[in-house]
Amino acid sequence: MTRPPPPGPAGNFYAQLKELRSDFLAYLLNAATEHGDLVRLNPGPGTYLYLVNHPDLVRQILVTDAEKYHKSAMTQKMVGRFLGNGLIVNEDQSHKKQRRLAQPAFHKQRVDGYAHSMVELTLQEMASWRPDTPFDFEASMNVLTMKIVAKTLFGTGVAGGTEKVGRIMQVFAEAISGQFRALPLPQWLPIPRHLRQRAAVAEMDALIKEMVAEWRTAGTDNGDLMSMLLLARDMDSNDGMNDKQLRDELVSIYFAGHETVAKLISWVIYLLTQNPAVTQQVQTELNAVIGNRPPTTADLPQMPKLDQVIKETLRIYPSAWVFDRTPLVDVELAGYHVPAGATIYVSPYVSQRDPRIFDQPDRFLPERFATGWEQNIPRYAYYPFGGGPRVCIGQAFAEMEAKLILATILSKFSVELATQEPIEPEPGATLRPKNGLPVSIKSVL
Ligand code: HEM
Repeated sequence: MTRPPPPGPAGNFYAQLKELRSDFLAYLLNAATEHGDLVRLNPGPGTYLYLVNHPDLVRQILVTDAEKYHKSAMTQKMVGRFLGNGLIVNEDQSHKKQRRLAQPAFHKQRVDGYAHSMVELTLQEMASWRPDTPFDFEASMNVLTMKIVAKTLFGTGVAGGTEKVGRIMQVFAEAISGQFRALPLPQWLPIPRHLRQRAAVAEMDALIKEMVAEWRTAGTDNGDLMSMLLLARDMDSNDGMNDKQLRDELVSIYFAGHETVAKLISWVIYLLTQNPAVTQQVQTELNAVIGNRPPTTADLPQMPKLDQVIKETLRIYPSAWVFDRTPLVDVELAGYHVPAGATIYVSPYVSQRDPRIFDQPDRFLPERFATGWEQNIPRYAYYPFGGGPRVCIGQAFAEMEAKLILATILSKFSVELATQEPIEPEPGATLRPKNGLPVSIKSVL
């Protein structure tokens, strides 16, 4: 006898697709609230998506049974077209090997070495802001985090400059975000969007080829991530990476490493503009720890309030708001049968608003993260950086970068929202403020 499928929203696929298109986040959140730990969604003809909504299921998929799952075919196809077989979509033994090779580039000691550049570049970006003159903070953070990843990844030499890479990354991000808005058209169709995407991939390939060739000629460790990846040797085979794999890792890290942080910082600033009492606490802390000088890594452990604010922001607006998996074999989740090849959504956005775990889930309450609390909620109730063998390799990098940038900005400026329009989250490759984040600044000195 066939078992009944997991519960899900009523209505045929057309009604569900309409709801999804009008507000994807609300569609997922409502489905989880109404239907429990495992929900089956039907957003297209014959298309089923499974949404997990319990910490134990998240752990089962990401950690305990991780080897039974791959990224979904859609992600492999959409993301792989731009990022090749880099860490984000690589699988099995090849993923393990690449992860081992890349890991040293992300060790704390190495990452700490990037702090100075992060602060310097933030100060340069801030020099372009004018007090009481509104500007788009999100756009400014995109430029800044792009420059930081370019500098720390490639050292001084991004041939053609960060503007060019910025344009290329924009095309990649738009294409990857597209999968959350419309069914993709076949790639061979020579429509302008596809032609633009192909040109962007070719441009990126040429750029990286040139940089890698230059590096191989010089052959020295410049202290950047690219040097680490080029010097990396596998413990067992003593093999390094070939040029194609190196290209894929560099583009993947570049892609994963800037927008996520830009959105995090933008959401922190937005939430602070809405919560003056918290802003005051952060500014008092910064005043006591760094006063008017730029922050260093040694200051960071003395900024618990800033740490709580960042954690709570990642709870409410996690940059990586959803990721997916597909089981390689039929599996059982929450007592239901899920067939091999199904697409499963794991969503920090949905999980981290679960009222069974988070009191007043919609409210920004950084004090939740006061010492000890996080250890008392179920593991994988809160997982903005994922978990298991695919946990974000850049977590320490991202946390340090966000703290240094925010400390540099907030010790010098107070920030106000410069629009009456509501700021709403838009889900794409990352979770971004839908129409940017218009702000104006004032010096706090
Ligand atoms: C606030 C910032 C960030 C957030 C919220 C974030 C979140 C995540 C999450 C949730 C995953 C796991 C996805 C999955 O399991 O399918 C991931 C993977 C990854 N992240 Fe991050 N990330 C951030 C910043 C960064 C930075 C700064 C870098 C690099 C400099 C980076 C590089 C990567 C890479 C390469 C992977 C793939 C790892 C693998 O599959 O082995 N991320 N990130």
